[in-house]
Amino acid sequence: TVLVVDFGAQYAQLIARRVREARVYSEIVPSTMPVADMLAKNPAAIVLSGGPSSVYEEGAPRLDRALFEAGVPVFGMCYGFQLMAQSLGGQVDNTGAREYGRTDLHVSRSSSTLFEGTPDEQAVWMSHGDACSAAPEGFTVTASTDVVPVAAFENDDKKLYGVQYHPEVMHSTHGQQVLEHFLYRGAGLSPDWTTGSVIEEQVTAIRELVGDKRAICGLSGGVDSAVAAALVQKAVGSQLTCVYVDHGLMRKGETEQVEKDFVAATGVQLKVVDAQERFLDALKGVSDPEEKRKIIGREFIRVFEQAQAEIIADSGPEVEFLVQGTLYPDVVESGGGTGTANIKSHHNVGGLPEDLEFQLIEPLRKLFKDEVRMVGQELGLPDEIVQRQPFPGPGLGIRIVGEVTKERLDLLREADAIAREELTAAGLDRDIWQCPVVLLADVRSVGVQGDGRTYGHPIVLRPVSSEDAMTADWSRLPYDVLAKISTRITNEVRDVNRVVLDVTSKPPGTIEWE
Ligand code: XMP
Repeated sequence: TVLVVDFGAQYAQLIARRVREARVYSEIVPSTMPVADMLAKNPAAIVLSGGPSSVYEEGAPRLDRALFEAGVPVFGMCYGFQLMAQSLGGQVDNTGAREYGRTDLHVSRSSSTLFEGTPDEQAVWMSHGDACSAAPEGFTVTASTDVVPVAAFENDDKKLYGVQYHPEVMHSTHGQQVLEHFLYRGAGLSPDWTTGSVIEEQVTAIRELVGDKRAICGLSGGVDSAVAAALVQKAVGSQLTCVYVDHGLMRKGETEQVEKDFVAATGVQLKVVDAQERFLDALKGVSDPEEKRKIIGREFIRVFEQAQAEIIADSGPEVEFLVQGTLYPDVVESGGGTGTANIKSHHNVGGLPEDLEFQLIEPLRKLFKDEVRMVGQELGLPDEIVQRQPFPGPGLGIRIVGEVTKERLDLLREADAIAREELTAAGLDRDIWQCPVVLLADVRSVGVQGDGRTYGHPIVLRPVSSEDAMTADWSRLPYDVLAKISTRITNEVRDVNRVVLDVTSKPPGTIEWE
């Protein structure tokens, strides 16, 4: 394991992902973890992340020097680099030498462990106010910039390396290569961590844990719950039962994907609850977005719990486990990044008898989204499930501006299916994050179709590009693709006489309209 020590910026997750892209397993630990505890994990190498602090500030995160003396290879980046410099007797100060963004790096020792085979001049991403002006004794300075004399150093004997910039961001053109040089050449690791090994490890662990008991899993139609279920199914077969609530707010073909394709690919035991009428009844007359969301959330939990209770009633008290598709970023963000177990302690599920407790099985707890997709692929799940773009839990219910009715849902489903079909046909699925298709059910405009006047509804296309959905930009889709979608929707979908494009970034607009 490579430990990525998190100094409090958003970079640690990205570093951990980059290490895994190099096929080496990595985990994030907080910088407040005692060095003895870090070393107790027996790390093969350690990466120190960047962070927002300044090393000479009072209260800035520190690191026990013992970390550098344990014989474990260490790579410091940005703040981690400065901390390494300072702890080992180098000089770090606020010289007023600020660099933010793209910077030219001058590599002075191309034969170095980190920079071997990379150009003498390369673009790197900087973000710092302090700078290292003298490397610690025993270190060779391997790169500089116009502003900073010591932008990288290394001590090959002690296996200590550092760079002032952020090799993990894509703007650092040779960043991944430099990181891999550290891992393979510096730390002597081999690229042998694969999703296949994850599956094997998890299947064994889950089998052992579940024994002859039973597990249940809720399927949402999304990637995470599908992959989690498929993994548990591979481990314990028919001891797992999945529940899928069809609330009628799914897009065209999605329920069938779960009912047919997912079952065909995994052989999982599935209980489908048709709750379409119940949701429509509950949503009758409601057009306020928040109210809709609350109603959908509430009904969903009720139906789901009822189904669970039925499964438990059918199979007796041996249902002990609940499978969830929790991902590594959720774990890290909730402060649990230090845990190594893939099993969390028991947890009550509301609506069931008070003394009934589940143990959670979270087989994706150590994985990032792209890794979950790879595991899904390896488990033989269809692309339509594994490569699915994000879709909100409340489904099409929050893509109809106005009251949700059966007719409107059917109409939106048609329009959405056309948009998705054309985007896929144009090969754009991987370029966009998602493309909500929204029906403005409370708006009408005048049109002309055939020989007659129409008075129909507009459909909004909301294609966005994003990395994490926190911010987004509208996607610049090719005009001919937009034209095709527009023509097809207005021709093929009854009551729609206008297609409009949402050209708002987030912020100020959210991705969804409600
Ligand atoms: P917004 O509209 O807030 O959406 O910019 C950000 C991302 O979250 C998705 N989204 C949801 N996902 N339940 C979900 O599981 C929800 O209630 C929900 N609301 C929005 C949205 O599709 C986008 O990817």
